[in-house]
Amino acid sequence: MTLRSTVILGTGSYAPERVVTNEELSRTVETSDEWIRTRSGIRERRIAGPNENTSDMGAAAARRALDAAGVSPSEIDLLVVATFTPDMPMPAAACLMQRKLGLPSATACFDLNAACSGFIYALDTACAMLTSGRYHKALVVGVERLSSVVDWNDRTTCVLFGDGAGAIVVGLSEQPGVGLLGTKLGAMGESADLLCIPGGGSAAPATPDSITAGGHFMKMKGKEVFKLAVRVMDEAARDILEQHHLRADQISLVIPHQANLRIIEAISQYLELPMDRFFVNVDRYGNTSAASIPIALDEARRSGRIQAGDLTLLVAFGAGLTYGSALIRW
Ligand code: ACO
Repeated sequence: MTLRSTVILGTGSYAPERVVTNEELSRTVETSDEWIRTRSGIRERRIAGPNENTSDMGAAAARRALDAAGVSPSEIDLLVVATFTPDMPMPAAACLMQRKLGLPSATACFDLNAACSGFIYALDTACAMLTSGRYHKALVVGVERLSSVVDWNDRTTCVLFGDGAGAIVVGLSEQPGVGLLGTKLGAMGESADLLCIPGGGSAAPATPDSITAGGHFMKMKGKEVFKLAVRVMDEAARDILEQHHLRADQISLVIPHQANLRIIEAISQYLELPMDRFFVNVDRYGNTSAASIPIALDEARRSGRIQAGDLTLLVAFGAGLTYGSALIRW
């Protein structure tokens, strides 16, 4: 069997129009622009409109990725959507996106939930399915409408998150040594309680009482998550570099999950790689979970920060707690 590479043929992203600044939030919860900026690096975030659903944002990003790749929807036979905020529990957001994009009925469509690491999990899954030889062209989407699961009265979480979508088209190439070189995925289920939405699932279905108690909102132990995030992202980055016999300084650009500027700065210090090798847009979008890496990837590509031959490292952590890293040669 010929060994085939999986390559990114095009990228796209979408952010809702509405910009919510720190100053605007400080009018509804007890916080300040200064606190949010110094603790997280976030200046503003995008919030979806009332009728703008996860599948709408995902489809918008996917259309841009298809355009950039010069690939028609009829060529897609696999759609993997990373999200923990699908339009509804059932059916999958991927099926709603399939309809909006006009993808063929012979397209395998499913959602995958690995929270903020979701895009790297989805990328790995799609690439493995493509290299199996049974699929030919995939759309991989990371999309979240976090504004629907954020408690807007909880200042410890509501200032951190935003909505958006990013997408890539992945295909096969006969050229060796390009595209996705490898991934490292993992999870620490023992820390699952640090970041969760306790209500609304099958363990605690929504009731009038659970809704009044806010059980369907995101709960986070921020300090503990912060410490684990730094450790786990540093390890995931080191592991994949070691696996491929690479040094950190051989990476042209790191695209980390955009949760907090201080987390990214800590990883830059641990890896001894200057901040100018890290792509940062958390200031403009906040944490968009599974959408954060594909939005950053698209912005990095479109602004010329990624060139042919470059080596890019993706690294993420999220609820689960999940983590993942990926190496891409362009
Ligand atoms: N405005 C003003 N004060 C606030 C706010 C706010 N928005 N939020 C918290 N505070 C207060 C706290 O109540 C606390 O007050 P106290 O000392 O009187 O109790 C004080 O500020 C300090 O709070 P800390 O939690 O210690 O602040 P910290 O420096 O740890 O920063 C933060 C908090 C930004 C949440 C940080 O811990 C963090 O980024 N953690 C990681 C979170 C993360 O990355 N989550 C994403 C996971 S990805 C996913 O899967 C969704």
